[in-house]
Amino acid sequence: MQHIISIGDFDRDEIDNLLNHAAQIEKKKYDANALAGKILAVLFFEPSTRTRMSFESAMARLGGTSLSVGSVEACSMAKGETLADTVRVVSGYADAIVIRHPKEGAARLAAEFSTVPVINAGDGAGQHPSQTLLDLYTIRQSMPVEGIEVALIGDLRYGRTAHSLASALSLYNARLHTISPKGLELPATLAAQLKEQGMEITEHDSIEDVIGEVDVLYVTRIQRERFPDSASYFNVASSYRITPELLAGAKKRLIVLHPLPRIDEIDPRVDESPHARYFEQSRNGVPVRMAMLMQVMK
Ligand code: NCD
Repeated sequence: MQHIISIGDFDRDEIDNLLNHAAQIEKKKYDANALAGKILAVLFFEPSTRTRMSFESAMARLGGTSLSVGSVEACSMAKGETLADTVRVVSGYADAIVIRHPKEGAARLAAEFSTVPVINAGDGAGQHPSQTLLDLYTIRQSMPVEGIEVALIGDLRYGRTAHSLASALSLYNARLHTISPKGLELPATLAAQLKEQGMEITEHDSIEDVIGEVDVLYVTRIQRERFPDSASYFNVASSYRITPELLAGAKKRLIVLHPLPRIDEIDPRVDESPHARYFEQSRNGVPVRMAMLMQVMK
């Protein structure tokens, strides 16, 4: 039984194979009944548009069915049931579970109690492996990932998409440039681990410092829901913004990615720019998640 809890569950070949499969799927080369008769349980205890709907869309396109719980209030966890018991029960109703939860480590715990494969769709400030796979897929559509220069911008402390992506990029000898408001830097343990794996990471004060050098600008939202209080959020809110004027200094092949939702960190005028790839990126969630679902359920 294969769970997908962290991007660290994959080596580079496994990632490349999965993304090659997703590319075949995107070309419509797949069996639309591959998962007929299979059921995916969607346990989302945090808001989601893209991740949840693209998993459900992926399941439907493969002929399978999804069952979902959209909040703690809507299920027996509101009565005090533990996550462990909920997962034990739900794994009797489905062939795989995709879970999103506000606590780091929740998906790993779910996997311990589940009798079917578990996919982590975001555990607090931890990991978001399916997002990383579609991020890499989107980069590959523009350039080979090997040796690229990537700027990670924004909330690198609480942003799980940044954590998973940074780990994956270390497999491709990418160089990382980080730009974040004070206090929202990449966690020291993760940075140390990446450096130990040989990754070069450079911290910068402003995006202007790196805009002419990088191949990917990976922009993230400040994760307001993970702040202890609203004052500490408003201290850092709106402290960075990608504009067409900033992109005027970029390399021709630079792409701008964002896991979305965006708040105000990318000027809507950037949407028209040839550098903008974030809406393609969110569309890529479907073929990539189709490949993931086939991998764990076939
Ligand atoms: C991200 C998440 O949930 O971590 N969203 C997503 O899945 N595309 C990013 C975010 O919420 O900022």
